[in-house]
Amino acid sequence: MSPSPDIHPVDPDVAANARIDRDAYERLYAESVADPERFWGRVGERLEWMRTPTRIKDVDFDARNLHIRWYADGELNASVNCLDRHLEARGDKTALVFEPDDPEHGAQHISYRALHERVCKLANALRSLGVRKGDRVTIYLPMIPEAAVAMLACARVGAIHSVVFGGFAANSIADRVADCESKLIITADEGRRGGRTVPLKANVDAALKLPGTNSVETVLVVRHTGAAVDMQMPRDRWYDAVTKDQPAQCEPERMNAEDPLFILYTSGSTGKPKGVLHTTGGYLVYASYTHELVFDLREDDVYWCTADVGWVTGHSYIVYGPLANGATALMFEGVPNHPDTSRFWQVVDKHQVTIFYTAPTAIRALMRDGDGPVKRTSRSSLRLLGSVGEPINPEAWRWYYEVVGDSRCPVVDTWWQTETGGIMISPLPGATDLKPGSATRPFFGVRPALVDTNGAILEGEAEGNLVILDSWPGQMRTVYGDHQRFIDTYFRTYPGTYFSGDGCRRDADGDYWITGRVDDVINVSGHRIGTAEVESALVSHPKVAEAAVVGFPHDIKGQGIYAYVTLLAGEMSSEELRKELVAHVRSEIGPIATPDHLQWAPGLPKTRSGKIMRRILRKIAENAPDQLGDTSTLADPSVVQSLVDERLGR
Ligand code: PRX
Repeated sequence: MSPSPDIHPVDPDVAANARIDRDAYERLYAESVADPERFWGRVGERLEWMRTPTRIKDVDFDARNLHIRWYADGELNASVNCLDRHLEARGDKTALVFEPDDPEHGAQHISYRALHERVCKLANALRSLGVRKGDRVTIYLPMIPEAAVAMLACARVGAIHSVVFGGFAANSIADRVADCESKLIITADEGRRGGRTVPLKANVDAALKLPGTNSVETVLVVRHTGAAVDMQMPRDRWYDAVTKDQPAQCEPERMNAEDPLFILYTSGSTGKPKGVLHTTGGYLVYASYTHELVFDLREDDVYWCTADVGWVTGHSYIVYGPLANGATALMFEGVPNHPDTSRFWQVVDKHQVTIFYTAPTAIRALMRDGDGPVKRTSRSSLRLLGSVGEPINPEAWRWYYEVVGDSRCPVVDTWWQTETGGIMISPLPGATDLKPGSATRPFFGVRPALVDTNGAILEGEAEGNLVILDSWPGQMRTVYGDHQRFIDTYFRTYPGTYFSGDGCRRDADGDYWITGRVDDVINVSGHRIGTAEVESALVSHPKVAEAAVVGFPHDIKGQGIYAYVTLLAGEMSSEELRKELVAHVRSEIGPIATPDHLQWAPGLPKTRSGKIMRRILRKIAENAPDQLGDTSTLADPSVVQSLVDERLGR
């Protein structure tokens, strides 16, 4: 039987040279779920341990006794695994290629030896500033090599890093600093993106004026653009000055496998972002192993992930995974359309990139400009393409495959989350037939299942909520400072399983198709935004009485942000006020939370018990007023008509 046109069977040439072919996948997958202890024990040997673990898996998903431990008696240091152990064989190999925002500024190539030295110097400086094992350090940097250096230097001294994305504003920085009581912040004078500058140091200054941030003793400032910034002595120190005379060797801290490596804040259903905590051993095993197999890594690859280090993709697949594997990873400071929309492909040609990993939103934005900007470049070095962050629509998948990859490079559509630490469902290039829009099969050790709203497990072809039945080493261990929230968010909805928050379909072949979030999280250009966060930013404005925020389908971003706002009695709506409220959200959270639409709502559709019916608001935002469903349970059904009229401009 010939395959249907929507299936791209594994390329026999790719399979012949791949680490994992179809048979190996089937065999290893079966083994990984039948005997996780043995499987992950063996995989754990890929790291360099200071003390070899003998206890591999110690997990209970029962909410009453929840615990997740991997390699619990092992000891290691993540920076040693990413740097020191490569020095002998790969000392001169390029660890990081840095491509700046402005192509005229010239790229940098940093060898493993040079990176090791930079990390050691910063680690020594951190120690001299009083940073000790277990202390929290906030990193608020642009996409420059110092971001990776800072993460690894924290790991070296056992400090827990919390990277805050450069697109967040002062309030968001302050919340994150306060929540984990950071002792030190590493930032830069400014960032550069698409020819514009981002006032990073000024944002930190503003954040540190806000309540709850007194824990910060020191701010290290990387001189990047050279702009004049306000240095407040003795708190603020130049990065160069404190690192320059430090020794180039630094004794790494011995870390237990279950000691925290980092905290990364992500949005959930409530207004307060969660501090997702990852630990050292299991995370590093999982990030490096998935990176090696999903990208079918080879020694001479030049690997480029376009994510920002402020997100988990940057943590696992720019820094920890690739460097633990001794790979060459490219870090790009800029954006896809600067100086023009060929930039990604120019960078691919310039650095002879072989593996390219990006987000659907970037693909869709570039697709809009047609094939020309792509076809102007060669891209002959590419052999593998990856997608992450949101569902990829089949049309964008095909454009990526056919135009960017010249129908030559497999596309790995990787489903995972901040919480999962690494890729969970994805094709393996030598083993899995590809289907545009499907993340296909679970990675080794991952046991996905679909459940209905009552929690009953659905078999065969089905659609439901995606849960994971057993632990994997890269799983988050807790919500920093709020273990109860960890249990309640992930393990109570469908007892005994990890609940992802995503909806998903499984087809007749057993391939998984992620359909998107089923909770109050919206995925804007692959960035998670909690509707409650945007709502609380809106109601913090003195003229706003109430706000309800929903996602709506957006051609480029995947989802956009749609806000309904009720003003306080006596306040008049105006175009000016609309702009003011949008600007208010940007300054409260950051530009990534900018509402795409803001509609005045004289009233919101509520049940008699006062619960806002978001389903109705989503349909109005989607411009599908004929699909509102049953509105008879509303306290005041007439508000719906007025919202629909306003939406349609009647
Ligand atoms: O809804 C899923 C979507 O992104 C969410 C996780 O977001 P975050 O924690 O920010 O991590 C993003 C990078 C791993 C998921 O719950 N998502 C991520 N990858 C995919 C995806 N949806 C569909 N297909 C994917 N490949």
